[in-house]
Amino acid sequence: MSKNKFGKQGWTPERIKDLSGKTYVITGTTSGTGFEAARILLSKGAKVVMLNRNPQKSEQAIKTLKDTLGNHIKVSNIKMDLAVQASVRKAAAEVLEKVSQIDALLCNAAIAQVPTRKLTVDHFESQLGVNHYGHFTLQGLLFPLIEKSKGRIVTVGSLGYNMGLKTIKFDDMNWDHDYTANDAYSQSKLAQIMSVYELQDRLNKAGNNNVKAYACHPGSSRTSLISTSGSFMMKMIFGLMKLSPLTQPAENGAYPQLMCATEKDLDQSAFYGPTGRSNWVGPVGAHPIEPHAKDKAVSKRLWEVSEKATGFKWNF
Ligand SMILES: NC(=O)c1ccc[n+]([C@@H]2O[C@H](COP(=O)([O-])OP(=O)(O)OC[C@H]3O[C@@H](n4cnc5c(N)ncnc54)[C@H](OP(=O)(O)O)[C@@H]3O)[C@@H](O)[C@H]2O)c1
Repeated sequence: MSKNKFGKQGWTPERIKDLSGKTYVITGTTSGTGFEAARILLSKGAKVVMLNRNPQKSEQAIKTLKDTLGNHIKVSNIKMDLAVQASVRKAAAEVLEKVSQIDALLCNAAIAQVPTRKLTVDHFESQLGVNHYGHFTLQGLLFPLIEKSKGRIVTVGSLGYNMGLKTIKFDDMNWDHDYTANDAYSQSKLAQIMSVYELQDRLNKAGNNNVKAYACHPGSSRTSLISTSGSFMMKMIFGLMKLSPLTQPAENGAYPQLMCATEKDLDQSAFYGPTGRSNWVGPVGAHPIEPHAKDKAVSKRLWEVSEKATGFKWNF
């Protein structure tokens, strides 16, 4: 493993300077790493626009943030359900209406380990629909403003990209056959990560240096992820794991996405996350990614399949 360029402690939010005048749009801030990322960005003076599906939970999150940081913080919520393409389109339109710059879009929200196969209203397998297709459309719709702002797109993936089939099941994207919670979750996170590197290639080809795109993951963090969508058995397993040193607080899980959203001179071709035990915990930095996540033939085809499925066509 190469030396961490941020030293022994790895990257920490202490490196973030004053963010007054900057705007960050984050999906999924009602709990977990998204909440912590919002809190830290707000504490540095940034404006944060949350995109959440549940207005009551959003209000509660905003209240907690104001109680912690003060009423002066610049935080707002726009309702968006990533499981519904129409909702993503409506929310993106509202963002473009209300916000004049986006320094980074943090694609953080997700569901995981959904025990039985479910379809979204758009007939996508639920994890693929929420985690990948929802963010694919959101990124495309917000791209013009991110480009105008010379901003970033940050995708929160998972080490799950390296589990399951380790490729995209093009002949059965929605798991009509052989569904398992883990295989479908892993495919959705692999799809998200592959799309980052594919976007970089497309930007390069178009000679577009205005937008930077990064892939990261939170390692193994104590959040609500499994308790929201996992099976009883998964909840038990993760409940026990939470007691072990193989997990870290949600705050630490937010560091990789915060680093990708704010740190200067980061290599876009890298994969960012904890660099300690099994990359589950520990100092944050770059670490190796398996070649299947950058398989060009697969990522190109995935991009085309995603455009067709969502009906959103990028300009390059
Ligand atoms: N925790 C880990 O160890 C771990 C490991 C690998 C990867 N990750 C990744 O880390 C990211 C953050 O997850 P977390 O661990 O912080 O989990 P979390 O505490 O469950 O947070 C997930 C967030 O996503 C939101 N969300 C879920 N479905 C949504 C939808 N359809 N539309 C809009 N928002 C939706 C949730 O909102 P509600 O409150 O409405 O449910 C919540 O705010 C995810 O991308 C996850 O895949 C986490």
